[in-house]
Amino acid sequence: MYTGLKHFHSGLAYLLLAALIVAVMYAIVSRRKPFTAGSRKIALIGLICTHLQFVLGIVLYFLSPLGSSNFSGEAMKEKVSRLYIIEHPLMMLIAIVLVTIGYSRIKRLGSDSKKYNSIIVFYGIGLLLMLSVIPWKVWP
Ligand code: HEM
Ligand code: HEM
Repeated sequence: MYTGLKHFHSGLAYLLLAALIVAVMYAIVSRRKPFTAGSRKIALIGLICTHLQFVLGIVLYFLSPLGSSNFSGEAMKEKVSRLYIIEHPLMMLIAIVLVTIGYSRIKRLGSDSKKYNSIIVFYGIGLLLMLSVIPWKVWP
């Protein structure tokens, strides 16, 4: 169970980062064009990968020896264990909230260029936050 989930979380990370990069790039090149159903679908793929990764991450947090079971003052002092216990989960949560806000604003905003801008800004910042707390020593 743990090993399977860990691989799923690790593999989905590729798909998720690719989906967010594609969504931001697409929004940048299309921002003067009409916002179509296809434009929304591209953003939706990024949103679904993000939400799925979040659920996997939460479950993994309680199964992994690097997650909640490692929580202690000692572990907080150590860079790598602190990354898994607090920095990775918390920063990812913030990034996920930003991506979700970016997507849900699409439905409310009036003009097409504002919709594209919402993706560029919210998905873009979310992506940067994600990149900042990926455990680069063990991944890819
Ligand atoms: C949505 C954005 C996220 C991305 C892109 C992401 C990405 C990653 C990556 C690349 C790894 C390394 C996997 C490996 O060792 O091969 C990892 C590990 C881990 N992630 Fe995430 N993660 C995300 C969200 C979360 C969240 C929200 C949580 C917890 C609430 C979480 C908990 C963990 C844990 C506990 C590990 C360590 C697993 C282990 O090696 O035992 N992740 N994550
Ligand atoms: C605890 C887990 C989850 C939470 C708290 C959560 C939360 C949310 C929220 C707040 C929205 C609203 C965004 C909006 O305003 O449109 C949303 C939309 C969505 N979520 Fe999640 N989600 C979770 C898990 C998942 C999972 C596991 C999936 C699928 C793999 C998923 C797929 C979607 C999709 C497809 C939408 C967009 C629906 C639409 O087209 O408007 N979510 N989620």
